[in-house]
Amino acid sequence: MVKLIRSNNVYITLLHRCKYSTVPKSISTIHINGKDFKSDDYSNITPKILTYLGRNLHLQKGNPLSMVRQRIVNYFYKSFTHRGNPIFSIYDNLSPIVTVKQNFDDLLIPLHHPSRAKQDCYYINKDLLFRAHMTAHQSELLRAGLNNFLMIGDVYRRDEIDSTHFPVFHQVDAVRSQRKEELFNSNPDLEIFEPSFDTKKPKVLNDITDSSKQSCHTLEATKLMETQLKSHLIGLIQALFGKDIKYRWVDAYFPFTHPSWELEIFYENKWMEVLGCGIVRNEILAAAGPNNSIAYAFGLGLERLAMALYNIPDIRLMWSKDSGFLNQFANKDVDAKITYKPISLYPQCVNDISFWLPNDLTIDTFMSNDFYDLVRDIGGDIIEQVKLKDKFVHPKTKKHSVCYSIVYRHLERTLTQFEVNKIHKEIEKAVTDSYNVVIR
Ligand code: DAH
Repeated sequence: MVKLIRSNNVYITLLHRCKYSTVPKSISTIHINGKDFKSDDYSNITPKILTYLGRNLHLQKGNPLSMVRQRIVNYFYKSFTHRGNPIFSIYDNLSPIVTVKQNFDDLLIPLHHPSRAKQDCYYINKDLLFRAHMTAHQSELLRAGLNNFLMIGDVYRRDEIDSTHFPVFHQVDAVRSQRKEELFNSNPDLEIFEPSFDTKKPKVLNDITDSSKQSCHTLEATKLMETQLKSHLIGLIQALFGKDIKYRWVDAYFPFTHPSWELEIFYENKWMEVLGCGIVRNEILAAAGPNNSIAYAFGLGLERLAMALYNIPDIRLMWSKDSGFLNQFANKDVDAKITYKPISLYPQCVNDISFWLPNDLTIDTFMSNDFYDLVRDIGGDIIEQVKLKDKFVHPKTKKHSVCYSIVYRHLERTLTQFEVNKIHKEIEKAVTDSYNVVIR
């Protein structure tokens, strides 16, 4: 996932030279939904990625992701009310184009944190990117004065290719804040903030050296929030998977929460991480306006939950427009128990690609995420997986060679070896042109 090795200009070169690109030849502007954006040496949006923008699977009735979204929203509507009205507001139509400030700075993500790397994000330019998580909207909504809200939408990350990874996926992120009167309504002697903490200078005095709490908060407030957060999230997981679901909490680290945890559920004989959460760093709340509250936040991925709930074996199916897939979910009650039945598994074609890297690159410095994007740009959604099969250093020349297996499979029909070979040749040509490698 997050890799520290990156380069500044490989992908732009690729957009430039690659004949498959629909992005304008000039590298000075990128057109997205009728708008022009200035490009620079950060730009690495691919033509393929632009085709996912606006699909809004989480809002398409009858899409499994939208059904899971609805069940989560229902849980929050039902569980949190004030005088009969739901207290959470829902934001599920926020633009996925965000600033670096929204996605990282506002969330206290350090300047050199690996998650900011070009290798891991889709940048429009050095200031704008396709959001890498829904938490990117947290600060702006807090600034707008909201206390309890859910943010739901598509997020974009450059990653490897296999049945559970896709460069676009969907998240639900949430914040729940409480003032002293709400949190300690039955115990008004207790406080949210330590007496030594000056809420006027929140940055100076807050630190996270103590693993149990932020220095500004009292232990009572932190513990009560932790108890509520965990029981609300267990309630959610039980509402989705049933009362018998096996789960465990794991300590975690996120720059924007402290303390932080991850929730794992036991699924198909393995522990599977389903969400991250924690107590929002007070600096974030304070930067959004005068602050006298404490908040918890969490973020979860919809694909994982939908795949587990409905037994969907391949993440690409979420994007399928095939009626054989969609009809299994259409017109169903969101709470209906649905087990996906594979329409039929069409055969795979596996072709290997091996090449010598140029002298200045080694196996470790070759940017595999750039390569994955290029393969997907040319092959599209018939690329099921790209896996590193072999690597090798020539004993004399010291040149590095890599071999990847590219697994091709169409979800809706059988591919012929002839058409796969044609695409494979195009990939070989594009790799040669873009990276100066030599096919073996
Ligand atoms: N944004 C995190 C991610 O994408 C998930 C997350 C963790 C969201 C903790 C939160 C949180 O709101 O409090 O991996």
